[in-house]
Amino acid sequence: MAKILIIYASDYGSTEKMAQAAAEGVAAVAGSEAVLRTAEEVTADDFLSSDGVLVGTPVHMGSMDWRLKKMIDTVCSGLWMQDKVNGKVIGAFASGSGYGNGGGGVELTFLSVLNNFAELGMIIVPLPKNTVNYKKGGLHWGVYGRSADEDLNNHGVSEEILALSRQHAIHVTRAAIALKNAEVFS
Ligand SMILES: Cc1cc2nc3c(=O)[nH]c(=O)nc-3n(C[C@H](O)[C@H](O)[C@H](O)COP(=O)(O)O)c2cc1C
Repeated sequence: MAKILIIYASDYGSTEKMAQAAAEGVAAVAGSEAVLRTAEEVTADDFLSSDGVLVGTPVHMGSMDWRLKKMIDTVCSGLWMQDKVNGKVIGAFASGSGYGNGGGGVELTFLSVLNNFAELGMIIVPLPKNTVNYKKGGLHWGVYGRSADEDLNNHGVSEEILALSRQHAIHVTRAAIALKNAEVFS
């Protein structure tokens, strides 16, 4: 079993819905538990008591939400100093609405988020391209949910995206269990 911390920021609900779907995915793995926190709520103890982390952000000006970056620079920097989260798994998800299938800067957003967690010594769990619904919103970095249509009207994220969020969370949870059982980093 594994305890997976899911952290997110959200203004209009799309990233939050993806976080909730990810929590369902964690719970679908026998004996595993999801802890859902906003970037403003999460504490160092939440990190320490988890076996893995999923982090979600809206794409803001081609980068991550400022609340998430604040959390990284405050809550996570102390963990970095003490090497406290080395070897825990990390998965990312994002929601955007920009033109084009990749959104405006979504890949840069994933890279900036995952770069910070790699700095913390965490192990990135990607999204394999054979995952069901991948073509609806998959990037190898993680799940991407486009919340707007071509005219930028917000319709929220689709059921296919939420299913993809559940599936990615299952991958992350299984990877966390495997590493925990192998005691590679303990
Ligand atoms: C300040 C701000 C900047 C944004 N910048 C981008 C952007 O650069 N690229 C993009 O695809 N969407 C951008 N968006 C749209 C949001 O990423 C999109 O609406 C997302 O689904 C919102 O997630 P939420 O519902 O969880 O708040 C921006 C939205 C806001 C409020």
